[in-house]
Amino acid sequence: MTESPAKNYDLIVIGAGPAGYVAAIRAAQLGMKVACVEKEKSLGGTCLNVGCIPSKALLESSELYEQGLKKLKEHGVSVDGLRLDLKTCMDRKVRVVRQLTGGVASLFKKNKVDHLVGLAKIRSGKSIAVTQEGGETVLSTKNILIATGSEPAPLPGVAVDHKKILDSTDALALPEVPQKLAVIGGGYIGLELGSVYRRWGSEVSVVEALDRIVAGTDLEIGKLFQRILERQGMKFHLSTRVKKAKVEGQGPVTLAVEGLDGKESSLEVDAVLVAVGRKPYTDGLGLTEAGIKTDGKGRIEVNEAFETSLPGVYAVGDVIRGPMLAHKASEEGVAVVESLAGQRGHVNYNAIPSVIYTWPEVASVGLTEEQVKEKGDPYKTFKFPFMANGRALALGEKDGWVKLIADGKTDRLLGAHILGPRASDMIAELVLAMEFSASAEDIARTCHAHPTLSEAVKEAALGLGTGAIHI
Ligand code: NAI
Repeated sequence: MTESPAKNYDLIVIGAGPAGYVAAIRAAQLGMKVACVEKEKSLGGTCLNVGCIPSKALLESSELYEQGLKKLKEHGVSVDGLRLDLKTCMDRKVRVVRQLTGGVASLFKKNKVDHLVGLAKIRSGKSIAVTQEGGETVLSTKNILIATGSEPAPLPGVAVDHKKILDSTDALALPEVPQKLAVIGGGYIGLELGSVYRRWGSEVSVVEALDRIVAGTDLEIGKLFQRILERQGMKFHLSTRVKKAKVEGQGPVTLAVEGLDGKESSLEVDAVLVAVGRKPYTDGLGLTEAGIKTDGKGRIEVNEAFETSLPGVYAVGDVIRGPMLAHKASEEGVAVVESLAGQRGHVNYNAIPSVIYTWPEVASVGLTEEQVKEKGDPYKTFKFPFMANGRALALGEKDGWVKLIADGKTDRLLGAHILGPRASDMIAELVLAMEFSASAEDIARTCHAHPTLSEAVKEAALGLGTGAIHI
């Protein structure tokens, strides 16, 4: 073991995902001496390496393929001999990932963040040990930030073999397209990766334990979303729980499933994607020995300042409470280091967007109609369909709505839900509106460029007040 007095940091960040690397850079910009310990050689965590970024690269490639097959014709573009070259898609995805992870490494250099490859273990609130190839190094520090993220949650009875029974990482790098793919879990991962393979020709069946997909999303939006995905060819088995998976040699996978009514049946497929959620990743951190408390779900407990039960040790991102979203994690990382620097770092949890990057996309911020109803206060809601938006028609993308919910008395925006083309980009305006406590009238009185998809946002806001014009 080596202990170097030169390695005395203001902050050591454990984990270089969107929580950790962003926090490390911001802390260095604020004048701290910072180290970031990451067990993988490639920086960027799940998001950049095996999550958000590679999945978006494949979503883009597969959508272009589908456009070639189904949509180009109506634009007068005929393509003969269109075929999928899976290896080229996968190679492109790898290049996109490399460019971004390499970018983080350059940003670390630029900001003088020390990058250590190794597994960190917390020895005390002021010291960590890093196991590296050449042995163990001990580093001392004023503060520690845990940003170790999450890993796929296992499903009892369905052991991932990384060949036919896959987790999301496997599904990002399949050598061929399975003819029949079962997706367990109708959440973000299941529907995004399910969409990729459906576009590439798989028969995709989604098995979801609940009676609806994308639980937590506005119900009306969720129902229309399911109808659109069904029209695209995805099959859904709702209120159905997967009990067991069996693979015999080179043969298919048999899934034993059970309906709510207790009726058992089976599904035979070529591959299975297990996407039933993620769980906090804290392996090797030595939380118990260090006296850092976790809750019943394995999440590190933190107070409002993100400090754990061990003073001087903070935690952010997927490893703590709240939605497992990269941008939520980054916001928390920045808030912690700004507070450490004497500023007033904070995260507004009412204004964290969430996006499902299928086509069309689903993007939301704030409360769902169900949540607003439960509160019992008066509210109003309006849906403006993309069918009545000029730009959407020009694009040939008529599916979906902008749905806004506002306080019935004050007109303040409470929630916004977009199902439609480029919803991921459009939601930014509504996140800003939530952040600024805007009223529906504020949005309605804002000039929106014509012809744009964002005019549907203005129209929905008008609909909450004096009335939409184009419907
Ligand atoms: P999820 O929590 O979104 O969905 C999992 C689904 O699996 C749930 O609907 C659940 O009811 C269902 N389920 C659980 N056990 C089951 C069983 N035995 N049989 C059938 N269904 C079962 O989890 P997912 O999709 O794995 O995503 C994990 C995390 O990653 C999420 O927290 C999400 O926020 C994040 N993520 C975010 C993305 C984005 O922002 N676009 C993309 C991908 C992931």
